[in-house]
Amino acid sequence: MENILNHVSLEAVSHAQGVSSVTAGSRFVRACLRQPVDRTPVWFLRQAGRYMPEYMAVRKHHSLLDICRTPEIAAEVTITAAERLGVDAAIIFADLLLPFTPMGLEFEFLAGEGPVVHVPVRTAEQVRALRTDRVDELSYVARAIERVAAHFGTPRADGDQLGIIGFCGAPFTLASYMIEGGSSRNYVETKKMMYGDGVAWPMLMEKLVTVLTGFALQQVQAGADVIQIFDSWVGALSVADYRRYCLPAVTELVRRVREMGVPVIYFGVDTASLLPAMSETGADVIGLDWRVPLDAGWKAVGAGCAVQGNLDPITLFAPGDVLKERVREVLAAAAGRPGHIFNLGHGIVPGTPVENVIQIVEWIKEYGAQ
Ligand code: CP3
Repeated sequence: MENILNHVSLEAVSHAQGVSSVTAGSRFVRACLRQPVDRTPVWFLRQAGRYMPEYMAVRKHHSLLDICRTPEIAAEVTITAAERLGVDAAIIFADLLLPFTPMGLEFEFLAGEGPVVHVPVRTAEQVRALRTDRVDELSYVARAIERVAAHFGTPRADGDQLGIIGFCGAPFTLASYMIEGGSSRNYVETKKMMYGDGVAWPMLMEKLVTVLTGFALQQVQAGADVIQIFDSWVGALSVADYRRYCLPAVTELVRRVREMGVPVIYFGVDTASLLPAMSETGADVIGLDWRVPLDAGWKAVGAGCAVQGNLDPITLFAPGDVLKERVREVLAAAAGRPGHIFNLGHGIVPGTPVENVIQIVEWIKEYGAQ
C-alpha cells in the first residue's frame, strides 16, 4: 500500500499548504485513480523506439537485449525519450519477453523478424520444466527503474511529478510467444494447447502468473508508480474463450499487483468486444486501441474504470490539420471526465516523425485542460 499512501499523504500536505489538490503529486497517477487533474496526462506506447534518432544512436552500439540488461543504458533511453517528448510518464525500457530467460526458455531478436524462441513450448512436459524460482535474475529491470526514479525524484517546472511505469506481459500474450515460437497470425499452436490440453494450459497460466507477480513486485519496490500489463494479442480470442481460458489468470495477476499498492493499466489490441470482460479483471485503467471510439470504449468498460488511449498511431503520418483534428476528437470523446490518459491505440511505429509526436504533447497541454 506504500505508494498509494504516499500519494494520499502528499495530497494532505498540499491542502495544508494551500496547493490545489488537483495539482498535487502526479497528474498521470491521479488520472489512473480517476481523481481530478489540471489537464489530461499524456504519454505514448513505444515512446522510446526506432522512430527516435537518440534511440537509434544507442542501438548502433548495443543490441536490444544489451540495452534492456544494462541498467545505466536502459535508464538513459527511458529518460531521454520522456524528456525529449515532454510527456507526463516514463515507461521503463525493457521487453515483454525478458522473463523467458529465467524460466529456462532461450530466445533472441532477429533483425526484421522480431522475437524467436528456439524450442517452442508445445507439451505438458515442457511446461512442467519451466522454472518459476529464478525471477531474481530479472533484477536489472528494477535497477534501471531505481535510476529513472532517482532522476525524476523532484517535481518538474510545472509542479507535476512525472509518473514511472513498470510493465509485464499478460499470461495469454506471453504464452502465445512461448508456444508459437515468435509472432503469429492465427495462433494455431497456442489455441491447440488452450483447447486441447487441460493439463498444460492451466499449468502454463499459473506459472506465468507466479513469475509475472514476482517481476512486477521488483519493479514496484524499485519505484514504479503504476504497472501496465500488455495483453497485446488477446484480440485473437472470442469473448467466450477469453473468459474461459484467460480471464481467471489475468484477474489473479491484476489482483496481486494491485495488492502491491499501485494502479494497474491493462492493455490489449483489437479488443472492442472483449472490453466488458477485460474490466472484470479489476484493473484501474483499461488501454483502448484506436478501432473503438473512446466514448463507446469507456461505456463498455464502465464508469468504475479509467481509460487510456486511443489515437491511431498512423495518424502521426497525416497532415498537421488532420492530426490536430483527430487529437481533439479523442479529447472531445473523453469530455474532460476524470480518468482519461491520452495515448495512442498502439505503439509508435518506425518512421514516425518525432516532431509530430512532440506536437501532440503541445496540443494536449493547450486543449487538455479539465
Ligand atoms: O518505449 C517503450 O514503449 C518501452 C519499451 C518496450 C519495448 N518492448 C522495447 C522494444 C515495450 C513496452 C515493449 C513491450 C513489448 N515487447 C510488447 C508489447 C507492446 C505492444 O506492442 O503491444 C511486445 C509484443 C513485445 C515483443 C516484441 N519486442 C516484439 C514483437 C518486437 C519486434 C517488433 C518490431 O517492430 O521489430 C520487439 C522488439 C522491441 N522491443 C523493439 C523495442 C524498442 C524494437 C526493436 C529494436 O530496437 O531492435
